[in-house]
Amino acid sequence: MQTVHSVAQVREYVRGWHNKGQTVGFVPTMGNLHDGHISLIREARARCDVVVVSIFVNPTQFGPNEDFDRYPRTLDADAAALVEAGTDLLFAPSVEEMYPLGQNQTWVDVDQLGDYLCGASREGHFRGVTTVVSKLLNIVQPDVAVFGEKDFQQLAILRRMCEELLFPVKIVGAATSRETDGLARSSRNGFLSDSERTLAPQLYAHLQQLKADIDAGERDYRALESRISQSLDTAGFSVDYLTIVSAKTLAPAGPQDTDLVAAVAAKLGSTRLIDNISLAVVRDR
Ligand code: PAJ
Repeated sequence: MQTVHSVAQVREYVRGWHNKGQTVGFVPTMGNLHDGHISLIREARARCDVVVVSIFVNPTQFGPNEDFDRYPRTLDADAAALVEAGTDLLFAPSVEEMYPLGQNQTWVDVDQLGDYLCGASREGHFRGVTTVVSKLLNIVQPDVAVFGEKDFQQLAILRRMCEELLFPVKIVGAATSRETDGLARSSRNGFLSDSERTLAPQLYAHLQQLKADIDAGERDYRALESRISQSLDTAGFSVDYLTIVSAKTLAPAGPQDTDLVAAVAAKLGSTRLIDNISLAVVRDR
């Protein structure tokens, strides 16, 4: 595996591969890699001749009171895991390399999809994500880019962005990778204390309960949301949102919607966890 830090070096490698007719798969990350990230790399490997991974903790997607400074940076361990996973090129740029003019003036914004769920509580977050992913796609020019379904809204927004801006890339979604107790793998899980870690799998357990209630015929989505949400708060979480949404629009689901997702964000202490579960509803006749 080659590790490079400049845009020019990435372009040189990718030009060489494309000239030889090889396809390039790309997995953007912020590092502190876990098995969830590695499953994305495996997906890219299966679809493409070569795999490029980026590690960049992107300042423009963190709010002023969020965890940019304490976000874990573990480049050496990450590089070792990437070699093991069969990565060809690691791109690990500095903030100056990615934002050479300093204060950013050009933004990519996805309107409605970015307004719901995390967009409502993390102002400016998705515009930071879409802007940096646009830049990364322009640098790497991959044939395929893989993102996790764990960040369901991010995936929906990036799909829409690539379609509307005609990026010549296929966006692939990969299933959420979980610990054996159901907790979705996340770099933020490392912030949890022992007692919070014991509680954390309750987040997914509640989503599974919600799904069971829907499968049993519950159709009052707002009532179900508040019941499950209250139960999470009682268990020790501080729920930011728990919403049953249309998988297409991300707007709160109504009786006509059949392709649904229940998405949740909740804090345990100072750590914010997100998760989601997809729900297929057979409409009552
Ligand atoms: P990061 O949180 O490092 O995640 C990188 C990729 O890994 C994302 O596509 C995310 O959805 C995926 N991922 C994280 N945990 C996962 C899990 N448990 N199972 C499956 N996939 C998982 O998401 C970002 O970085 C950034 O916003 C980024 C897209 C890199 C832009 O800065």
